[in-house]
Amino acid sequence: MDILSRKEEFKGRDFLSLYDYTPDEINYLLDVAASLKELQQRGEPHPLLAGKTLGMIFQKSSTRTRVSFEVGMYQLGGYPLFLSSSDLQLGRGETIADTGRVLARYLDGIMIRTYAHEDVQELAAHAGIPIINGLTDLLHPCQALADLLTIKEKKGWLAGLKLAYVGDGNNVAHSLMLGGAKVGMHVVVATPPGYAPKEEITLRAREAAAGTGATVTVTSDPVEAVTAADVVYTDVWASMGQETEKAERAKIFAPYQVNAGLVKAARSDFIFLHCLPAYRNLEVTSDVIDGPNSVVFEEAENRLHVQKAIMALLI
Ligand code: CP
Ligand code: NVA
Repeated sequence: MDILSRKEEFKGRDFLSLYDYTPDEINYLLDVAASLKELQQRGEPHPLLAGKTLGMIFQKSSTRTRVSFEVGMYQLGGYPLFLSSSDLQLGRGETIADTGRVLARYLDGIMIRTYAHEDVQELAAHAGIPIINGLTDLLHPCQALADLLTIKEKKGWLAGLKLAYVGDGNNVAHSLMLGGAKVGMHVVVATPPGYAPKEEITLRAREAAAGTGATVTVTSDPVEAVTAADVVYTDVWASMGQETEKAERAKIFAPYQVNAGLVKAARSDFIFLHCLPAYRNLEVTSDVIDGPNSVVFEEAENRLHVQKAIMALLI
């Protein structure tokens, strides 16, 4: 079977948000990721991007995203270039539009991690080659796709499951809301008042949910969120760029810690997810993240497989 049988539908597209993909396309991406994972595990070469190059622009730190994109491109037979923004002329004031127009003359795709989501949209508008969002302040779609693959592997399906996200209404929460809604999950997000997901994302997620039987709920009650949840998810309380708010946030978010007491409300077979990096005894206690329900390292591994699927289909 040709594992990229639907490549023509994907080739040349950007991957900026899961909102831009239909439920059927998201499920197909997950299927391709699962096939690529199997090939990799069997040690079967799959040079689907031989001769292709991916530029990787990083304006923020990364462990998982950098290594998984770089290794993923290598496993697909292509060549990844790490481009630190402090070395690019971008760091000295060259515009994003010019950078995109120039890089498109050399590269076949670009993955970018940056602050403003608009910068990624701007790059996509000018580059004319596939742009993959490796995290912005608004969204983290590669992470959410890896999360969906992990949930599907562990639970067998996605539609109808309850996912509770407890913590900051941030980029990871936003992408989970959009991704979860697209695949028919019941996503409940519990945040302190004032830290709820952006209204625009909640509206878009609900719009997506209307077509799939999903529901998207925003609350300030962590117990309500976690009650009978199949998946419990949290992320850091202070994201990259919010370092100065760390101490203040630690106080405000304390009642939203995912700990043994809170997860008692979840289903007994719940799985715990965290995009990582994690801060033990802040957003999650060791007994949960290092406990038997935690699948955070399989989740991290799945970044590799879903991103290979994205690259193999788009580039
Ligand atoms: N989860 C994630 O994106 O990790 P990195 O910041 O290490 O890339
Ligand atoms: N919300 C976190 C995710 C890190 C992978 C951040 O943006 O820093």
